Amino acid sequence: MTETTQKEFNEILEIDKEAFEFNYNKSQMKNALDYFDRFIIKDKGKIIAFVLYKPEKDKMFIRRLAVKKEFRRNSYAQKLVNQIIEKAKKMKLKKVYAFNRVSNLKGIGFFKKMDFKITNEIAKYFSNDEAAYIVEKNL
Ligand SMILES: CC(C)(COP(=O)(O)OP(=O)(O)OC[C@H]1O[C@@H](n2cnc3c(N)ncnc32)[C@H](O)[C@@H]1OP(=O)(O)O)[C@@H](O)C(=O)NCCC(=O)NCCS
Repeated sequence: MTETTQKEFNEILEIDKEAFEFNYNKSQMKNALDYFDRFIIKDKGKIIAFVLYKPEKDKMFIRRLAVKKEFRRNSYAQKLVNQIIEKAKKMKLKKVYAFNRVSNLKGIGFFKKMDFKITNEIAKYFSNDEAAYIVEKNL
């Protein structure tokens, strides 16, 4: 786990709120930050993008990825996911993968651009019963 200051915690929570319809509350975010590793990008001292991830056996799992709205389409998400790919390669993992809501066209468009493939669809994966696409990239 990486140390999180209260300021960083609030900045991540704010981005999450803006980025996701089903956003994390404070306690869910605290648990997520305790459990997952992360990469962040800052602008003028404030977090503008973050990704949470965790190695699981021979795969790297991307849990959450978000960029502050006004900073989107500047390749920040690409930078974060490339950092994860590099880390996964160094650890000699075989894949990087994530779950994406089937309705999340931005997320799907992004992962496709990053050369991830949709390999499966899991019905009722999310809490509102929405299905998930598994998107994955072989390393
Ligand atoms: C998805 C998200 C993380 C992308 O962040 P970003 O920093 O804007 O993405 P990048 O600038 O690195 O985009 C890289 C490429 O991905 C694709 N892409 C990015 N946003 C896209 C969108 N809204 N629609 C379609 N394709 C998109 C494009 O091909 C883009 O390259 P281009 O700008 O040269 O066309 C951001 O839109 C976001 O935070 N969305 C809300 C949260 C979310 O859906 N997270 C992903 C699922 S966990």
